Amino acid sequence: MSVLLVALPGSEARAARLATRLAAEVAAAEFRRFPDGETYVRLDTPATGRTVVVVASLDRPDDKLPALLFAASAAREHGARRVVLAAPYLAYMRQDARFRPGEAVTARVVARWLSAAFDAVVAVDPHLHRVDSLGELYGVPTVAVSAASAIAAYIRETVERPVVVGPDAESGRWVGAVAESLGAPCVVLEKVRRGDRDVTIGGIDGAALWKSRTPVLLDDIVSTGRTMIGAAGLLEQAGFAPAVCIGVHAVFAPDAYDDLRRARVDRVVTCDTIEHPSNAIALDALVARGLEAALARIG
Ligand code: R5P
Repeated sequence: MSVLLVALPGSEARAARLATRLAAEVAAAEFRRFPDGETYVRLDTPATGRTVVVVASLDRPDDKLPALLFAASAAREHGARRVVLAAPYLAYMRQDARFRPGEAVTARVVARWLSAAFDAVVAVDPHLHRVDSLGELYGVPTVAVSAASAIAAYIRETVERPVVVGPDAESGRWVGAVAESLGAPCVVLEKVRRGDRDVTIGGIDGAALWKSRTPVLLDDIVSTGRTMIGAAGLLEQAGFAPAVCIGVHAVFAPDAYDDLRRARVDRVVTCDTIEHPSNAIALDALVARGLEAALARIG
C-alpha cells in the first residue's frame, strides 16, 4: 500500500510534489482553530497498516507544533504502521545549550517531543553547532540531507569565478562542502553576537587574496538578516563586489528580507525548505531521497 502523506497547513504544495515523486497519496485532512485558539485535527483518509509521512516545514514553529503532534497522534490512533516526519526546516535547533542559568535547552525538549510522536525524522541541513548530529538529540532514526550539491549547482550556473564565504564558524561545514564541490576557494569570517539583532562580523584578512572573485555568502538560516548584512558590508568595505547571498532556510523575521535586499548585495536567494519569494533552489528531489532512506532504515 502506498505511503500516505499528511500536509500540515502551509505544506500542501510540497506534499503534492512529494506525492508525485514517491507515488504516494495525499490524505484528506482538516486542520482548524477553535474560537478559543485551540487546534482541531482530523484525518479523513484511512491510515490502517500504512506508512504515514507528516509533511511540515517548521518555520514559525510555535504556530505549528500542536497541529504536528496531533496529526502524528491521529495517524497512530487510526492504525498507521509507522509515522514519519518530513520537516525540510527543523526548528528549535539553535538553543542547543544553556548559556545562562535557568534557560530551557529547547533543542533537546523539542527533540524529545518529536521522538515520542514519530518513528523517524527527515530534515534538510539542520542547524548543528554544539551538537554534531541529530542522533545526539533524537531518540528515533533521523536523516539529515544536505543542500550543498544543489547550492553548488546554482552557483555553477549563475556566478562567475565565485569565492564562497561563510559569515561565522558554524557555517564552515556548508561553505567547505559547497566550495569543494565547485572547486572554488572559500573563506570563513568570524561573528560575535551580542543580541538577537546585534551582530559584528570580522576576520576579513584571510579573504584579501580573492578580491577579484564574486563573493557568495552562504549561511544555513537567515532570520533577522543581521549576519548576512554584516558580512556583506564587511566584504564591500574590503573592496569586494556586491555579494550573492544564499541561505538554506528562508526563516526571515519581519522586515529582514527587505532590509537585506536594501543592503548593497547582488541578490538574495534561498532553498525552498520554507516557501518564500527568494526561493531559487528546489530541494524536492533531495527531501524525497531522504524520506526513502528513512523508510528503508525503519523497515
Ligand atoms: C546561527 O548560527 C546561524 O547559522 C545563522 O548565522 C543565524 O541564525 C542567522 O541569524 P540572523 O539572520 O538573525 O543574523
